[in-house]
Amino acid sequence: MNDIIIRDLRPTDVDVIADIAVAAWEPIFAFFRRTMGEDLFAAACPDWRKEKARQVRAACDPAHPALVCVAEKEGQVVGFITFHANDASRIGEIGNNAVRPDFQSAGIGTRMYEHVFERLRRLGMRFVKVGTGGDPAHAPARRAYEKAGFSIQLPSVTYYRAL
Ligand SMILES: CC(C)(COP(=O)(O)OP(=O)(O)OC[C@H]1O[C@@H](n2cnc3c(N)ncnc32)[C@H](O)[C@@H]1OP(=O)(O)O)[C@@H](O)C(=O)NCCC(=O)NCCS
Repeated sequence: MNDIIIRDLRPTDVDVIADIAVAAWEPIFAFFRRTMGEDLFAAACPDWRKEKARQVRAACDPAHPALVCVAEKEGQVVGFITFHANDASRIGEIGNNAVRPDFQSAGIGTRMYEHVFERLRRLGMRFVKVGTGGDPAHAPARRAYEKAGFSIQLPSVTYYRAL
């Protein structure tokens, strides 16, 4: 783990982290597709790869309120995390974050969260929040967040039905 560096985003990282996001979300959207069925999935998540990459690219825009850090291993970017501070509530928030699938479960996510907690403390935040899915495909994210100390939960459920 000592060979992992967490650093601020550089413009040359943007394409790499957009690709990491798409790769990391593949199993999640595959689960959604199986669960929702083809019709609903096509209606609810059209072109999800393009949309996920767009979200990540938008967060990288210097005009966007989010900050972005990346995890680098041996000169390669292998993960990213977006986050922002809220000066009114002093509750920071973590947004999209992912580790390249072949580098997951090696502690990189945990390192990114710890780095962001420290950044948010220095920005004056008193709490930090993150939202994730309660479905089986988000089990790695929930486990990683709980390991990083997120211990207060307000679960929610999204329902669909055919009309
Ligand atoms: C969430 C994510 C960023 C965590 O990154 P990571 O580098 O794998 O995290 P860590 O190695 O620090 O692991 C933290 C914990 O999660 C567990 N974990 C990681 N991958 C897992 C998996 N596929 N299944 C179950 N647990 C998993 C680890 O085992 C570890 O727990 P442990 O110490 O009790 O074993 C990564 O799984 C990911 O990119 N997921 C897909 C995208 C995503 O869900 N992003 C968050 C959206 S809200």
